[in-house]
Amino acid sequence: MAEVALLTAKHAAYVKRVSEDSESYEYAVSEHLRMSGVYWGLSAMYLLGALDAMDADMIARFVVSCQHECGGFGGNVDHDPHLLYTLSAVQVMLLLGRLEQIDAQRAVAYIAALQRDDGSFAGDEWGEVDSRFSYCALNALSLLGRLDAVDVGRAANFVASCQNFDGGYGATPGGESHAGQIFCCVGALTIASAAHRIDRDLLCSWLCERQLPSGGLNGRPEKLADVCYSWWVLSSLSALDRLSWIDGSALMGFIFRCQDAEGGGIADKPEDVPDVFHTFFGVAGCSLLGYDGLKRIDPVHAMPVEVMERLPHAAPWGH
Ligand code: FPP
Ligand code: ZN
Repeated sequence: MAEVALLTAKHAAYVKRVSEDSESYEYAVSEHLRMSGVYWGLSAMYLLGALDAMDADMIARFVVSCQHECGGFGGNVDHDPHLLYTLSAVQVMLLLGRLEQIDAQRAVAYIAALQRDDGSFAGDEWGEVDSRFSYCALNALSLLGRLDAVDVGRAANFVASCQNFDGGYGATPGGESHAGQIFCCVGALTIASAAHRIDRDLLCSWLCERQLPSGGLNGRPEKLADVCYSWWVLSSLSALDRLSWIDGSALMGFIFRCQDAEGGGIADKPEDVPDVFHTFFGVAGCSLLGYDGLKRIDPVHAMPVEVMERLPHAAPWGH
């Protein structure tokens, strides 16, 4: 029978179970991005109102042990530092209310040193440039109250240069529009106070065309619907104040059909095996749609509104 509600208690039990099971397949294949996995799991638990079920001491110890001398964080202990995991580490410590346990000023220095002359950011010392890294840098600095450490105007110029004729954004100038990159570029431009540079109606037309007859959203034309796009697409529409441009109840119906009614967790597609990544994005999508009983999430910083309200320097988006 098709599910008609979000199975919140089952999802909380699922996230707790898989985050403790170091023997599982999921645990093994996510070794290189453990830091982001911890962020997805913890964020899901926060939105579900079940953060207390997680072992905060153990998680904080893990995050601290992933910080390098240079200030950046690796995806796991002894893994090289990268902006992707530096943002996740900052988010995790804020979720736990333990930011003081990491060296935030060193993290700021690490991020600032990755900005290049054209305003873009390299992801790490090896130099790959991607609008995702602009978002990671600006979001982490915004959360730390240290946007002053980089050239925000140039950062916005680079992100704006990734805009395409269809209103969407790619990884680099000329790169194909992709909803994941659009989330990053909308977020980066919003944090940089440059959202006026977005072609709002054109972009939102492209975004709402991502909804398929199943109610689910895809990330690019001709692709299948996938629960994670309930976040990448919906957060962008929400940040641009156009959430009503898609059919929210049809999307929720799709997310409900991707739930594992027995073991909990949400999969990318109906009948697939659940994972923590899609569980977080499914729950976060329902939160953006105002599902009763879930904590609200800030579509720009990808953090609970409650946590954002506790920060003296970074108001939640729209407040
Ligand atoms: C799709 O990836 C998603 C993206 C390209 C955006 C990723 C954004 C970040 C890592 C920034 C941090 C995010 C948050 C929420 C704080 P995919 O490889 O699954 O795309 P595909 O569906 O085309 O394979
Ligand atoms: Zn997905």
